[in-house]
Amino acid sequence: MAGFPEVRPRRLRSSAAMRRLVAETTLEPRQLILPMFIREGAREPIAISSMPGVYQHTRDTARKAVAEAVQLGLGGVMLFGVPSSKDEIGSGAVDPDGILNVAIRDAVSEAGDDLLVMSDLCLDEFTSHGHCGVLDSSGRVDNDATLSIYAEMGVAQASAGAHVVGPSGMMDGQVGAIRTALDAAGFLDTVILAYAVKYASAFYGPFREAVDSSLKGDRKTYQQDGANAREAIREVDLDLAEGADIVMVKPALAYLDIIRQVRDHVNVPVAAYNISGEYAMVEAAAANGWIDRERAILETLTSIRRAGADTILTYWAPDAAHLLTHR
Ligand code: PBG
Repeated sequence: MAGFPEVRPRRLRSSAAMRRLVAETTLEPRQLILPMFIREGAREPIAISSMPGVYQHTRDTARKAVAEAVQLGLGGVMLFGVPSSKDEIGSGAVDPDGILNVAIRDAVSEAGDDLLVMSDLCLDEFTSHGHCGVLDSSGRVDNDATLSIYAEMGVAQASAGAHVVGPSGMMDGQVGAIRTALDAAGFLDTVILAYAVKYASAFYGPFREAVDSSLKGDRKTYQQDGANAREAIREVDLDLAEGADIVMVKPALAYLDIIRQVRDHVNVPVAAYNISGEYAMVEAAAANGWIDRERAILETLTSIRRAGADTILTYWAPDAAHLLTHR
């Protein structure tokens, strides 16, 4: 008697209380990390047109958003700086008074012990050419020359108080270079959330506007090819060997299979980044009345959790936290 009519899966879907009892996947505010952009010198928050509802913050509004994140019980914030001037080597990234390091200090003082302050560790927001590293004389991204800048940047961010640094530039050896520098400077407890698996994706499109990127061309010589899955495991293994504490997969939606494979492969926490273009697609469809925005948000985030992500970076973190606490 192992089939219909005795067996009826619909019994376990018959009421909201029953569905809640048997739900396999949880989604909680503590699992969400809010990425935030802070623009140097801004007096008013500036709307990012391709990401409705997301702003380039002023220092002041960033502090308010951090306070709100604490109130909502989010897991953390991931900070990005938008400097007012850029140069070939991204000097603003290592300057203690550079906008990102200033924003880290602001956020840490606002967050206290209640929220983790994380910072993106990459040069693309700070370079005039928009690449994630410095260029050699032939115009290629110079891996090893970039590592020493990342190391300095990591120490600058940890000195500003960042609890977690997130190397996202896909340079070989970046995690090891940053770990060595952090340890030498006494930052033994600063966590490295490695963007271990990062694909060259069309879905980063709106992010380029978010950070006023001047990039021409693409990042295919350092970010991964979407055709490759085994390579993702290799990247994860290398980052763990170099001392990564948490590994991230990015983007999330077109790479849910990769999130699952990484989850099954490692024993460290796995993060996933629900990126700008994934956000923009849902917002655009919802604005047209084509989908139910709130349901689409929760379904998207649940799918990323179900795929195996422990934590999710998402621009919807505050909205989702509201939805989760008031449902
Ligand atoms: C690099 C970085 C990027 C994103 C996060 N960190 C851009 C890129 O690699 O092209 C994209 C995030 C998003 O699209 O939401 N600093």
